[in-house]
Amino acid sequence: MSEIVITKSPPLCGNIICSGSKNAALPILAATILTKGKNIIQNVPRLTDTENMLEILTALGGVCNININTVEVDFTDCREYSASYELMNTFRGSFFLAAPILSRMGRARISMPGGCPIGNRPIDLHLKGFAAMGAEIENGHGYVDLYCEKLKGAKIYLDFPSVGATENLIMAAVMAEGETIIENAAAEPEITDLANFLIKQGAKIHGAGSDTIKIFGVKCLEPVTYSVISDRIEAGTFMSAFAITGGHGKIENVNPVHLKPVTAKLREMGAYVDEHRNYINIDASKKLSSANIKTLPFPGFPTDMQAQFSALLCETEGSGIIVETVFENRFLHIGELNRMGANIRIDGRSSYIEGNKHLSGANVCAMDLRGGASLVLAGLCADGETRITGANHIKRGYENLCGKLRSIGANIFLE
Ligand code: EPZ
Repeated sequence: MSEIVITKSPPLCGNIICSGSKNAALPILAATILTKGKNIIQNVPRLTDTENMLEILTALGGVCNININTVEVDFTDCREYSASYELMNTFRGSFFLAAPILSRMGRARISMPGGCPIGNRPIDLHLKGFAAMGAEIENGHGYVDLYCEKLKGAKIYLDFPSVGATENLIMAAVMAEGETIIENAAAEPEITDLANFLIKQGAKIHGAGSDTIKIFGVKCLEPVTYSVISDRIEAGTFMSAFAITGGHGKIENVNPVHLKPVTAKLREMGAYVDEHRNYINIDASKKLSSANIKTLPFPGFPTDMQAQFSALLCETEGSGIIVETVFENRFLHIGELNRMGANIRIDGRSSYIEGNKHLSGANVCAMDLRGGASLVLAGLCADGETRITGANHIKRGYENLCGKLRSIGANIFLE
């Protein structure tokens, strides 16, 4: 099991480049199943999750060729409506396969999703939408079986603006019969990116990025070349790394519009952030003050940045409160931060974080992707050595994190 070893680092300084977005690449790669032909997807991050997705697409009959961060996926033939339980069960993104396989094959067998232990991760909103579009659904033995010869458009209201459910239902609707309206839809940039990919292929989608999305089913989609947006959470993690070490630098290949809540919070805490079309400059050399944060669906403060800010607030002037409203169990990193000398108290969905702590290096365990990132950030400013086990969680969502951080002065190595 690989470990990440970090020793206290100087203020980070320099230029760092973001990879493509994991959470945009996964649904877009799944959506290639909808096209009889070869799609070329660029700016795909090389991560465990994207590698697993490509393995599943191959098992379904897709012909995948990878050249660094460009992936060709040819689905002229789609032979299977399911892939191995082990493969599908390793990450949440596998459930994005449900709609494209069902739409293409008339049936789909998908394992109940795996992924981070940050909550029970139900799929009821996905299934409610599929049922509204005419699918028959069976649950059992850890699988969901979906059947429907031809999906029909429907009006669907999501009880929660679920990212995955919105993405699955868009993919179900693009070649369904008639019109589909998704209300209370999620508005994350990754959804707009999926929609833009499908629109480029000939889909008729209106309102992606808002809470109401209208899709008019078309007969077929054409294969295209498409470049995935950059990863806003990786960018936010790098901003936090500069901030927690009191450094300054430039983050390239980023869309500042996708980072507004994170940028606003860092500015409120006293950091200088300068936004440009595809890069951001940040200077956090001045001691930052604390802040209160409530995670919300986009455009609110992203839940995927909560753990990173939990670490950051340990080092700021004064105490802060973070309320996690999206997932019910996303504080797994708190115990590990306290092992490093933090003083964080949890009460339900709220965490109370004492500032001005001088963290000390310790042996800690990453239990989910972003929790692991928070431990990396803590290790950068902690006295002594921090050893993080469970680095496989981190490799699921960050491309070459250690190498990128080393390039701006971090003392961090993957063992
Ligand atoms: C996506 O997960 C992302 N993953 C997550 O990123 C991200 O945290 C999340 O969206 C929210 O932004 C991918 O895109 C692969 P949800 P997803 O459906 O789709 C409840 C990371 O670190 N819900 O928006 O699973 C659910 O329990 C990962 O990169 C239902 O109740 O998130 C949760 O409380 C972690 N029923 C809330 O909605 C459903 O059918 C948000 O979940 C579906 C979801």
